[in-house]
Amino acid sequence: MEIFKTKASLQAHLQKARSAGKKIALIPTMGALHEGHLSLLDYAKPISDIRVCSIFVNPTQFNDPKDLEKYPRPIENDIKLLESVDCDILFMPSVEEMYPDQDESWHIDLGELDQIWEGEKRPGHFQGVTQVVYKLFTLVQPDIACFGQKDFQQVMVIKRMIEIKDLPIQLAICPIIRDQHGLALSSRNMRLSEDGKTKALALSRSLQYVKDHISDNAGLQEIKNNALAILTDTAGVTVEYFAICESSSLQEVQQIDPSKQHVALVTAWVEGVRLIDNMILA
Ligand code: PAJ
Repeated sequence: MEIFKTKASLQAHLQKARSAGKKIALIPTMGALHEGHLSLLDYAKPISDIRVCSIFVNPTQFNDPKDLEKYPRPIENDIKLLESVDCDILFMPSVEEMYPDQDESWHIDLGELDQIWEGEKRPGHFQGVTQVVYKLFTLVQPDIACFGQKDFQQVMVIKRMIEIKDLPIQLAICPIIRDQHGLALSSRNMRLSEDGKTKALALSRSLQYVKDHISDNAGLQEIKNNALAILTDTAGVTVEYFAICESSSLQEVQQIDPSKQHVALVTAWVEGVRLIDNMILA
């Protein structure tokens, strides 16, 4: 694996690869890698020639400076993990390299996508995400960009940005990797006790309940109430939001439109850890 820390060195390398007709996949991350991240690299392997993973803890997407400071940065372990899946290129720039102009401004009109769910709870978050991902897209010019379904709203935001900017990039939405019990993998799970992890299973159980019952004759409201009860009946789980939405707009629905795709979204707190999960409904 080759490691690049500057845009210029990465660009020079990729330029050669591109002229040799290589298909480039980009996998953006903030490091502290786990099996969920590595699955994106596995996903990209058969559909690309060169996999570029970026590790950059992006300051502009954090609302709370303390969160940014506390973000884990186990870079040596990350490098080992990327080597274990034969990643071709690691790009790990400094903040100065990515944001040479401290006064740089960025805004993209994401409409309601920026206002609801994660957007509402974390104002400015998706502007920061799109800002850094657009920089990475411009730099790497990937044929394919891989993102995890785990952060469903983030993927919809990136999809919207690709449309707005008319970028020639194929967006790969990679399935959520869960542990053997169903807990969606996240670096935040490390902060949960064993008991907390058991409690956190209520998230995937509530989503699975919706998925299993969506084709029943019961009304959507009843299904949602029962799913919500799975969460509220679990001591130690505090729900922030639970919603059944049309996938691309993420607008909450009262009825399922069979011609559209829907997704159930949940965010809840367990032992002071904010957990997010979702499930695409057939
Ligand atoms: P990060 O949280 O490091 O996640 C990097 C990628 O890994 C995202 O696309 C995320 O959805 C995916 N991922 C995380 N857990 C997963 C799981 N259990 N299963 C499948 N995929 C999973 O998301 C970000 O970084 C940043 O916002 C970024 C896009 C890099 C921009 O800074």
